[in-house]
Amino acid sequence: MSKDSGRRSGAISVADISRRKTAGKKLSMVTCYDAAFARLVEDSGIDMVLVGDSLGNVVLGYGDTLPVTMDDMVHHTAAVARVLRTPFLTADMPFMSYKISVEQALTNAARLIQEGGAMAVKVEGGEEIGAQVAAITAAGIPVMGHLGLTPQSVHALGGYKVQGRGDAAERRLLDAAKALEQAGAFAIVLELVPAPLAAKVTAAVAVPTIGIGAGPACDGQVLVLQDLLGFDKDFSPKFLKKYANLGDTIVQALRSYDADVKAMAFPSAEQSFNE
Ligand code: KIV
Repeated sequence: MSKDSGRRSGAISVADISRRKTAGKKLSMVTCYDAAFARLVEDSGIDMVLVGDSLGNVVLGYGDTLPVTMDDMVHHTAAVARVLRTPFLTADMPFMSYKISVEQALTNAARLIQEGGAMAVKVEGGEEIGAQVAAITAAGIPVMGHLGLTPQSVHALGGYKVQGRGDAAERRLLDAAKALEQAGAFAIVLELVPAPLAAKVTAAVAVPTIGIGAGPACDGQVLVLQDLLGFDKDFSPKFLKKYANLGDTIVQALRSYDADVKAMAFPSAEQSFNE
C-alpha cells in the first residue's frame, strides 16, 4: 500500500460488496483521479471508487484511454488512496498492461496495490484473460471484470457503441461473464449493454454486476465523476444523468475572479495583511 495512505479497518470490503448482491441492496461507484475529489467522495457515502483509465480522457487530455500508462495509473491511484478511507478502491489496469502474459499481469497488478494503494484491479475482457484473472486472484488481489463496451478495444469494436445486440453477441457476453466469475472475478462492470441482457447476466452470475449504460437491473451503478457533476455541457450521452452543472458554475466563478482582478476589486483590505 502507498506509504502515505491510512485506510481504516472500516473500509468496505469484497465480502461487503458480495453481501450486497445477496441482500438485494444496490452498490454505488464513481471514478476519481485525485485527492481533492477523493476527499469529497469520502464524505458522500458512495461505496466504491474506481481510478479508471478514463483518466486519459478526463484528466490527461487524450482522446481515448489507449495512451494511459502504468506509471499514470500508479501516480493517480496513490493520490486517491492517500485520502480515501471508507469506499472500496479499485484501479484500472491500462491498455496492454495485462494481456501479454500472466507474469506481466501479476507484476502490474502488484504495482497498483503496492505502490498505488488500490484494494483491487479492473481488467477488460472475458475468456481470453481468464488465466490472468485466475492468477491475480490467486495472488490475493481481487479482480473486477469489465465487459460490453471495453474502451481499450475501441478500434476493434469500431467506436463507442452499445454491445451485445443480437443472439450471438448476447450469448458471447453471457459466456464471458460466466468465464470471469469462474476465473475468480469478484464483480463485473457491464458498459453499454442493452438493459434486458444486463438483467440476464446479473441473474446468471453470483458476483455483483456494476452497470454504466446497462439499465437498472445491475447490482450497482458506476459513472465517471466529472460526467455526473456536469463538467462538460456538450457531453450528454443517453445513459448519463447529470446531478449538477459544475462546468457552468466553475466558469462563472473564474469569470468573476478575472473581472475582480482587472477591476482591482480583489484583493480588498479584507483579503490583505495590513501589518
Ligand atoms: O475507466 C473508467 O472510467 C471505466 C468506467 C467507465 C467503468 O472503466
